[in-house]
Amino acid sequence: MKTHHTPLKIVFATNDSGFADRLISRMESWYDDVTCYRLDDPEAVNADVAACWYPPQDLLQTCPNLKLLQAVSAGVDHIPASLMQAGLPVCRVVDEGQKQGMLEYVLWGVLHYQRDFDKALAQQADKVWKLHPQRRAGKMRIGVMGMGQLGCFIAEGLAKFGYPVAGWSRSEKRVDQVSCLWGEEDLPEFLSRCDLLVNLLPLTPATDGILNQSLFQQLPQGAVVMNCGRGEHLNEADVITALESGHLRGAVLDVFPQEPLDTNNPLWSTAGVVVTPHMASAASGKAILGQLVDNGRHILEGKPLLHPVDTAKGY
Ligand SMILES: NC(=O)c1ccc[n+]([C@@H]2O[C@H](COP(=O)([O-])OP(=O)(O)OC[C@H]3O[C@@H](n4cnc5c(N)ncnc54)[C@H](OP(=O)(O)O)[C@@H]3O)[C@@H](O)[C@H]2O)c1
Repeated sequence: MKTHHTPLKIVFATNDSGFADRLISRMESWYDDVTCYRLDDPEAVNADVAACWYPPQDLLQTCPNLKLLQAVSAGVDHIPASLMQAGLPVCRVVDEGQKQGMLEYVLWGVLHYQRDFDKALAQQADKVWKLHPQRRAGKMRIGVMGMGQLGCFIAEGLAKFGYPVAGWSRSEKRVDQVSCLWGEEDLPEFLSRCDLLVNLLPLTPATDGILNQSLFQQLPQGAVVMNCGRGEHLNEADVITALESGHLRGAVLDVFPQEPLDTNNPLWSTAGVVVTPHMASAASGKAILGQLVDNGRHILEGKPLLHPVDTAKGY
C-alpha cells in the first residue's frame, strides 16, 4: 500500500508504548511518505497530526504544530477534556469490520440467554439433565442503548434474526424494523421492554454511571445486561446487588474502569457475571491507519475530514 502524497508527520500520543510500537511498525511498512514519531522524540515537535489513545494532557505543549487529533478508536473518552476543547478538530475510527464483530459478540450473548446456555452450563457443573422450554427469537426483546454507528448496525442485524428490537438515543432515529425511542422521556418505556439490554453509549458526563440500580429496576424481572460501552457506565456494586436479588439474570461485562480487571474485584466470582477482556470488537489496523493517514492528508489539503467528533457533545 505504498502512496505518494503530501509528506505527513504523525506523533503517536499514547500511554501504551507497545501499542504505539505496533502501529508505527505497520505504518512504516505500509506508507513510505509518512514520518512517525514517538512522544519522547524531540522531532515530534514537527508533527501535523496526533494519533491518540490516552494522550497526555500537555500534548499541545510537546507538539505545538498539531492540526488534528485523530483517535485510533471508536470512542474518544480517553482524550482529556482540555485537549477536546483546545479548538483542534477531533476525529475517530469507524470500521465496518468492527461493526460486524460487535454484532457477533452481542449475538453470542443474546443466544446464550435465549437458548438457556447459562442454565445448561450451570447444570453441567452439577451433572443435572434438565430441559427448559425453548424460547423463540420473537419472544426475546432486545434493547440497544446508543443508536450510533455500532448500535444501529447491531439493532438492524438482530432484527433480521427475528428479535423484537428497540433502540434508544439522544435524538430521533428511523431504522428498519427497529422501534426507535429517544431522549430522557422515552427511557422508562424503552427499559420496560428489554429482556436483554445492550449498552453501546459513548462515555460522556451524561452517560457516566447510567447502568445503575434505578435503571436496573426499570428492566423486566430476569433481564440481562450486556455492557459493551465503557466500564464507567456501570455501577459495579449495583449490578452485583441486582444479580444477587435475582432481579437480573445475567450481566455480560466487556469493559471496566480499570483494565485489566483487578484479580480482587468481586465481579470475577459473582454468579451470573460473564467477564470478557475488552474483546467485543476491535477496529482493524488497516482501518485505523488508513483513516489516520487519510485525515492527515485531508487536514493538510483543506478537504473534509472522515468521522469528525462533536467536541461539545463529547462523541
Ligand atoms: N467493547 C468494545 O470492544 C468497544 C468497541 C468499540 C466501541 N466501543 C464503545 O462503543 C461506543 C459507541 O460507539 P459508536 O461508534 O456507535 O458511537 P456513536 O456513533 O458516536 O454513537 C453514539 C450513540 O449514543 C447516543 N447517545 C450519546 N449520548 C447519549 C445520551 N446522553 N442519551 C441517549 N443517547 C445518547 C447517540 O445519540 P444521537 O445519535 O442522538 O447523538 C448515538 O446514537 C464507543 O464510544 C465506545 O465507548 C466499545
